[in-house]
Amino acid sequence: MATDHQDIISEIRHLKKQKKAVFLVHNYQRPEVQDLADFVGDSLELSQKAAKTEAEVIVFCGVHFMAETAFLVNPGKTVLLPEMESGCPMADMITVEQLIKKKKEIPGAVVVCYVNSSAAVKAESDICCTSANAVRVVQSLPVDREILFIPDQYLGQWVAQKTGRDMHLWPGYCPTHMRILGKKILEEKAKHPAAIALVHPECRPDAKEAADEVLSTGGMIRFAAESPAKEFIIGTETGIIHRLKKENPGKIFIPVNTKAVCPNMKKITLEKVLRALQKMQYKVSVPRSIRDKALSAVNRMLAVG
Ligand code: 13P
Ligand code: SF4
Repeated sequence: MATDHQDIISEIRHLKKQKKAVFLVHNYQRPEVQDLADFVGDSLELSQKAAKTEAEVIVFCGVHFMAETAFLVNPGKTVLLPEMESGCPMADMITVEQLIKKKKEIPGAVVVCYVNSSAAVKAESDICCTSANAVRVVQSLPVDREILFIPDQYLGQWVAQKTGRDMHLWPGYCPTHMRILGKKILEEKAKHPAAIALVHPECRPDAKEAADEVLSTGGMIRFAAESPAKEFIIGTETGIIHRLKKENPGKIFIPVNTKAVCPNMKKITLEKVLRALQKMQYKVSVPRSIRDKALSAVNRMLAVG
């Protein structure tokens, strides 16, 4: 078994070199997949890396919308997603038809689209954002314009609170982050009084109120490294704990809920990464008809930073 595992890793490394591939890996991926990465990061960091890479092939270990974004900023390159079924239920909570209908109800509103969305939905939006830059993106918009924020109501609610902007919120949510409850954070804080509670903005308002900091996954990684604190209560998908522990030996990370697991993120295994390189599958692309408009929304976000 151990030899099989090592054999797979050696073969992945060999093919990666041969195919001049770069591995971009999200913070929620399985530990063994993270350990093979050229870069591990949050959605914003991964799209910034994708925009800059000189590699011919991008093996994207994350969910489908992330690989689509990597393709949008790199249309000439091959973007491989090792598991095509690795989707995001929140992204599926809004269709392009629903968005077009909503836009007619609030004509003139600026559509701010969380990157957790399909390329077709991005193409009908004015500007994208991630959890790391959503506040800056909304602050960059003219104050006299109405805003429609899609599809995550909880990220939208938090951005509205931070910016003081009144926004129309689409009722989408992340099923994994719904498992993180404010009550449980308060219980963990009582057990670990010195710990700092970090939660993702996709969490519900009660979880954000109970936490000390609301951060993207990349923000949590930086915060844990820079903070003098030794204990952290982590309110996001549990895959991030691997990287937090690896980069901060000696610090303690307590998940709010060990069941806060994104099944789609976990669909990518070492075997599937190997198959992706062997068969050059599954190629992710975006039809020409929507590519330019979707890319404009992504580029406007990247310009904000
Ligand atoms: P980050 O951009 O913070 O990594 O979040 C992506 C995501 O899908 C959270 O559920
Ligand atoms: Fe989508 Fe939630 Fe999974 Fe993030 S954790 S990819 S928002 S389902």
